[in-house]
Amino acid sequence: MSASIICFANIKGGVGKTTLTINVAHTLAEEWEQRVLVVDMDPQINATTALLPYAETEKIRRESGSVYGFFSKVDNLRAMDPNLLQPRPVKAAPTGKGFDLILGSLDTAFLELRLPGEVPGLNINGLKNGLQTGGFLDQYDHILIDTPPTPSFYLVASLKAASHFAIPTRFDHLSIQGAGLLGRVYQTLRDHRDYAITAKPLGVILTLMQNDAQTTQGREILEEIRNRADLGDDFFHLFEGSLPLCAAIGRAQIEHRLIRELPPRGPVKKAQTQLLRITNELSRRLRGSAPVTA
Ligand SMILES: Nc1ncnc2c1ncn2[C@@H]1O[C@H](COP(=O)(O)OP(=O)(O)OP(=O)(O)O)[C@@H](O)[C@H]1O
Ligand SMILES: [Mg+2]
Repeated sequence: MSASIICFANIKGGVGKTTLTINVAHTLAEEWEQRVLVVDMDPQINATTALLPYAETEKIRRESGSVYGFFSKVDNLRAMDPNLLQPRPVKAAPTGKGFDLILGSLDTAFLELRLPGEVPGLNINGLKNGLQTGGFLDQYDHILIDTPPTPSFYLVASLKAASHFAIPTRFDHLSIQGAGLLGRVYQTLRDHRDYAITAKPLGVILTLMQNDAQTTQGREILEEIRNRADLGDDFFHLFEGSLPLCAAIGRAQIEHRLIRELPPRGPVKKAQTQLLRITNELSRRLRGSAPVTA
């Protein structure tokens, strides 16, 4: 069976895209024993930094390449720069079974800027084609893509490669506005002859949640989500699970530890329970909407 390719996106920074991508991936791999690949498409390389020891990242990138290789296919440049190698997945965590990563690269930003000497004519289908021709769709059950928060080339390339996408969102107006902006990008590109995005929306996942859903402002925000039916019912379909704000999660990322690996006490235990709910719900929604094979 071909892998589902799930993109985590929101045109708003700091809403938990990276945190959800890597932790849902880890949960799918550990709890459900799925073969999972994380692809770090954000030039900020936060997923890469959260999963691999920083001191070793450059060496690993030299040996195994990065997403840069999906977009740069010029042979003489590839020979000059190992960063241009066709990327090879690496183990994403020491304990992870079937939990791999294709590294991100800051250099993708330079490629996008088309600085002198860089390859012209970036292919928006670079990731989609690379995942297909590299055999990754057969090697994995799920491919999870972490994306940049801007309506940029690499976000669109991720959406083009994806069979599905989910929208991590903080519980505030600006983040929900960011989800709305993503909706506009999605709608425009879905209906555009040259882009024809076929990814299906899986819904909105609330993150960094405090106990504010009961406040007046909280209720207003929830209404705002529910009233955005213009994009279709699935787009803003709220997940029942939500990731609570938990200081230990932020601290753990610096030590390359995932939520499941933390001692299950107090707020961490609650976060672990919610992570399981979110992952379970994501799996159910995936099963309810057949992967797109276009
Ligand atoms: N549930 C949580 N509790 C506490 N801190 C969290 C939680 N989720 C994420 N964080 C922290 O909040 C910050 C933003 O999270 P994250 O990097 O996942 O967001 P992002 O949407 O990927 O951001 P960007 O748009 O910059 O890529 C990070 O420092 C992360 O460690
Ligand atoms: Mg991020």
